[in-house]
This record gives sequence, structure tokens and C-alpha cells, in this order.
Amino acid sequence: MKRNHYVRTIICAVVAVAFLTGSSPPKAEAMKTVRIPVSEIDPTVWGRAYPTQYEMWKKTEQPEQPGKSKYKRGFDADRITYDKLSEFPFLALLFNGWGVGVEYNEPKGHANMVRDQLEIDVTRVKAGGVCLTCKTPYAPKLQKEMGEDYYGKPFKEVLARIPGQHRTLGVTCSDCHDNRDMSLKISREFTLGAALKEMGVERGKLTRQEMRSLVCAQCHVTYSIPKDKEMKSVGIFFPWQGSRWGNITVENIIKKIRSDPANGEWTQSVTGFQMGFIRHPEFEFFSNNSVHWRVRVACSDCHMPFVTVGTRKISDHRITSPLKNDLKACEQCHIASKEWLRKQVYAIQDRTISGFIRAGYATATVAKLFELTHGKQASGKQIDKTLYDQAKHHYLEAFYRVVFIGAENSVGFHNPAEAMRILNDAASNAAKADALLRQALAKAGVTVPKKIDLKLAKYLDKRGQKKLMFKPELQIKDPLADK
Ligand code: HEC
Ligand code: HEC
Ligand code: HEC
Ligand code: HEC
Repeated sequence: MKRNHYVRTIICAVVAVAFLTGSSPPKAEAMKTVRIPVSEIDPTVWGRAYPTQYEMWKKTEQPEQPGKSKYKRGFDADRITYDKLSEFPFLALLFNGWGVGVEYNEPKGHANMVRDQLEIDVTRVKAGGVCLTCKTPYAPKLQKEMGEDYYGKPFKEVLARIPGQHRTLGVTCSDCHDNRDMSLKISREFTLGAALKEMGVERGKLTRQEMRSLVCAQCHVTYSIPKDKEMKSVGIFFPWQGSRWGNITVENIIKKIRSDPANGEWTQSVTGFQMGFIRHPEFEFFSNNSVHWRVRVACSDCHMPFVTVGTRKISDHRITSPLKNDLKACEQCHIASKEWLRKQVYAIQDRTISGFIRAGYATATVAKLFELTHGKQASGKQIDKTLYDQAKHHYLEAFYRVVFIGAENSVGFHNPAEAMRILNDAASNAAKADALLRQALAKAGVTVPKKIDLKLAKYLDKRGQKKLMFKPELQIKDPLADK
């Protein structure tokens, strides 16, 4: 036992030094590569050459082990799909007005991605074929063949162009690997490729370790779907303009989204504002100067740890949460016990959740104040325009920050300090908006109650059939509230 610990200490020291000096992470042993036919998408063909990776990859369709993760419960053995609207009811109010306010689920394993789209409330795929962009390996081909039609044509119509047996495939080998030598490659040139180019990233200079994150950044990023006047989708892009590699900030993302009315993808019913949206910004958040990014850790280090199969060391292709995989990934570099590491993760996540819930309710309260203000305006009250515009500005700043952290899937872990910074800014923007609107209302002679009733049940019930999914017992309470 003791000896084992000692050996691990040495290995870790070596690994740490390797990282700090910028050399490569531990490598899988050299393997013989088999040449896969050009543009072969069928994973069974790749699987014949690499059966072990194939079998692991297939396992991503299985339910998660319940109880191994405090917040990312995905869907468990009882077949409960955890949904963010149940967990955080203020989101039901904020997102009311489009599909995300009807159904917004926690992620599941990779193999489920297209199946989940087919099962989800139809309002969620209203944007059209563009929804397939980070779901099917056929996306680059469809986009090339169909041009602009790819984005705006109905979801089912575009899906039908995929060969029947591959229609529900989800991310597969060809999304991440080059068929010639199995090296990592970017298959989404029209999204990630374009975004990197706009930031001036020199593709030839990307290191293997950076590629081990970038294959994930093809999908685990935020994107915007610009609309034409008829609200038809006309494209997709990552709002990274104005940012730099290693420093894609929430500020720049919000600025880009707010800069163009075409990025307004939906209308928030409570305020009547046309809004953009932020989706799963894992790569942006992680790569923005987090501790692990600085020491050159990649997404794959934590989500695809090396495992020994027989005599070979290979990458775990059952991509999942490191907690659900018993923190094996962390143990590649950290000598601390599993219990200690798990506690570190939970401590970071508890702090994030606490800040998220506070900023979220504060933002939802401002949304209700806007509703009240609009009602008073309709009944003839004059509202000070300067105060109103300032309040709206701060409200939008708060809103997008709350969405950012709520959509980022690590509950703060990928970049703990950044999470706190973003949530503090969200809360202070919400407080400013609140004060400004109250001031405007007072000026108009309206008395506003100190505590605003959010009427959350109304928004949760407005979800049609999906309201049945809402289970109050799934709601996540502020973990630090009594401390
Ligand atoms: C989401 C991206 C992704 C998908 C999908 C994926 N891989 Fe990988 N694969 C990786 C990464 C990352 C590595 C590590 C590469 C490195 O370190 O250079 C890897 C490594 C490999 C290796 C080299 C040995 C090893 O295990 O490290 C093989 C072989 C392989 N993958 C086969 C497959 C096969 C077969 C499929 C489909 C069934 C597949 N991969 C799907 C990302 C992916
Ligand atoms: C082609 C797009 C795509 C690529 C590439 C991709 N992902 Fe995903 N990933 C998704 C989608 C979509 C989901 C949610 C699936 C669902 O809920 O049905 C997901 C879910 C996940 C989950 C949650 C799994 C669970 O068990 O709950 C993790 C972790 C994850 N991805 C990590 C990664 C990592 C790490 C990489 C790179 C090695 C990567 N992904 C590459 C699209 C992608
Ligand atoms: C230092 C380790 C580490 C790195 C690097 C890392 N992650 Fe994570 N990731 C985690 C942990 C820990 C969680 C929280 C898991 C939980 O709560 O169950 C997580 C959660 C996630 C989830 C949600 C998982 C679920 O089960 O719902 C996704 C998706 C994800 N990460 C993707 C990524 C992507 C993409 C990158 C790179 C841009 C990345 N991660 C980099 C450790 C890491
Ligand atoms: C590839 C190596 C590697 C992996 C994998 C890895 N870490 Fe780290 N981690 C590091 C290094 C290096 C540092 C920086 C140490 C320092 O500067 O003192 C660090 C820092 C940390 C810190 C302190 C900084 C912070 O962000 O709060 C925590 C906590 C941490 N790691 C937890 C984890 C957990 C949990 C996992 C697994 C999900 C994990 N690490 C996976 C290498 C790794």
C-alpha cells in the first residue's frame, strides 16, 4: 500500500513536471493504425479495426450510475431524466416563450443525442436542420450539399436525408478522427473551423494537447442561430469575434449577441424582449485561463482517461463525468484520495450553485418588474426612458450571465474563479436593474411591493404535456443557505 503510494507520487511528480514544462501528457502506447476508407462514417467499419474503443464508445448509451454525481444526474437507472427547469424553477420563468422554457434537460451519454432530439418537445427543434449541427456526423456533408436550406428547412426533413440506419447515430469516430492515421481532426469546418480562423488561430501550430480539447469544442461551445425577418434560421456561428485564443470571455460573447438584432432568436414572454441565447459553453469557460487550462490539461484528460486493456493503454471512449467514472481521470495526476478530490469538486459546485440560485432569482425578479412596468405603460403611465433603458441594459447583462453558468455543464468546476466572477457580475447587474426600474416606477407614482411574487407555478404549468416532468422534489436548493 505504502509502496504503491510512493510510486504514484513519483509518477505524479513526473507528470506534473511534464505539464509544467509543456511537454506532452502521458501517451497511449504506439498502436498499429489501420487505414479506414475516405469519408467512411459507419462506426462498425472503424470498430472492426479498433474493437475496444468501439465497445467503449457504444456504452455511452447506457444510463448513468445514480448517486455518483451530486448535480449532473443525467438520466439514472430509474430512468428519470433530470431537467434544468425542475432543478431551477426560475429558469422556467426566464425561458418562457420558446422551446427551452418547455423542456431543458441535463445531458446524457453521447449515443443518445439524436434520439433525445426526437423525443424532446417539438418546439426545441423548431429552428430546423441547423439543430443537427452538433448531433450527427452527417452535418458537414448536409451543410455542404444543401447550403442555406440546411439551416432553415424543417428538422425532420433534413434528418430524412441521412441514410436510415444512421439517422440516430450521434457523435462517432469520423467526427474526431482522421481516417488515414487516426490522428485527431476537426470535422466541423463550417462552425469551429470558421470561428478559429476569425480569432486568427494558426491551425498548423495547434498542439496535440490542444487538439484533445478542440475535438470536443466542435460541439461543447455556445453558438448563435441568426434569423431572417420571417424568423427562419439562416446560419450558425460561434460568437467568438473579438476574443482571443485562451481568452474567450463572457463579456465578448454577450457583446456579439447583443450587437445584431438578427441574433434575437426568441421572445421572452414575461418581458416581451427579443433575445439571443447561450448554450453549453464548456470550451469557452474552461479555456478562459482556468487553472487546468494553464497547466495544459485537456478535456480528454478528464473525460477520456487512459485505461489498461490487456497489455495496452488506451483512451476511455465511454465519455462521461469523471465523478461517474470514480475520479480515475483525476488520479492520473493527483495523488490525493478519491474522497478528497470528490469533496473539492462538490465544494466548488456548491459555491457555484449558491451564486447561481441567488443571481437567477434576482434576475427573474427584474423580469417580473419589467412585466409590471409594461402593464403600467399600457395603462397610460409615463415611464422615464433613460432609467428604463439603463435597467434593460443591466437586465440583459444579468440574464446572459445566468444563462451562461446555467448552461455550462460542469457547475463551475471547469473554471471555479471565473464562475464566481460571472455570477457576482450577474447579481450586481440584476441589483442595478432592480433599483433603476423601481426608481422609474416610483417616479411614475406606482407603488411597488418590496417582495415580488414570481408566480413560478404558472410558468412551470405552461409547459404543455412536459409539465408532468416537473417534480418539485428534484428542485436543487441553495446548498450554502443555512451555513
Ligand atoms: C469525441 C471525440 C472522439 C470520438 C467520437 C472517438 N474518439 Fe477515438 N480518440 C479521441 C481522443 C481525444 C483520443 C486520444 C488521442 C490522442 O491522445 O492523440 C482518441 C484515441 C483513439 C485511438 C488511439 C488509441 C487510444 O485509445 O488512445 C483509437 C484507436 C480510437 N480513438 C478509435 C476510435 C474509434 C474506433 C471510434 C468510434 C467508435 C472513436 N475513436 C471515437 C476522441 C474520439
Ligand atoms: C458532435 C458533437 C459532440 C462532440 C464532438 C462531443 N460532444 Fe459531448 N455531447 C454532445 C451532446 C449533444 C451531448 C448531450 C447528449 C444528450 O443529452 O443526448 C453531449 C454530452 C456529453 C457529456 C455528458 C455525458 C453524460 O454521461 O452525461 C460529456 C461528459 C461530454 N459530452 C464530453 C465530451 C468530450 C470530453 C468531448 C471531446 C472528447 C465531446 N463531448 C465531444 C455533443 C458532442
Ligand atoms: C480537470 C478535469 C476536467 C477538464 C479538463 C474538463 N472537465 Fe468537464 N467536467 C469535469 C468535472 C469534475 C465535471 C463535473 C462532473 C459532475 O458533476 O458529475 C465535468 C463536467 C462536464 C460535463 C457535464 C457532464 C455530465 O455528466 O453532465 C461536460 C459536458 C463536460 N464536463 C465537458 C468538458 C469539455 C468539453 C471540456 C473541455 C473544454 C472539459 N469538460 C474539461 C472535469 C473536467
Ligand atoms: C493531466 C493532469 C491533471 C488531471 C487529469 C487533473 N488535474 Fe487537477 N490539477 C493539475 C495540475 C497540474 C494542477 C495545478 C497544480 C498547482 O498549480 O498547484 C491542478 C489543480 C487542481 C485543483 C486546484 C485548482 C482549481 O482549479 O481549483 C483542483 C481542485 C484539481 N486540480 C482537481 C482535479 C480533479 C477533481 C480532477 C479530475 C476531475 C483533476 N484535477 C484532474 C493536473 C491535473
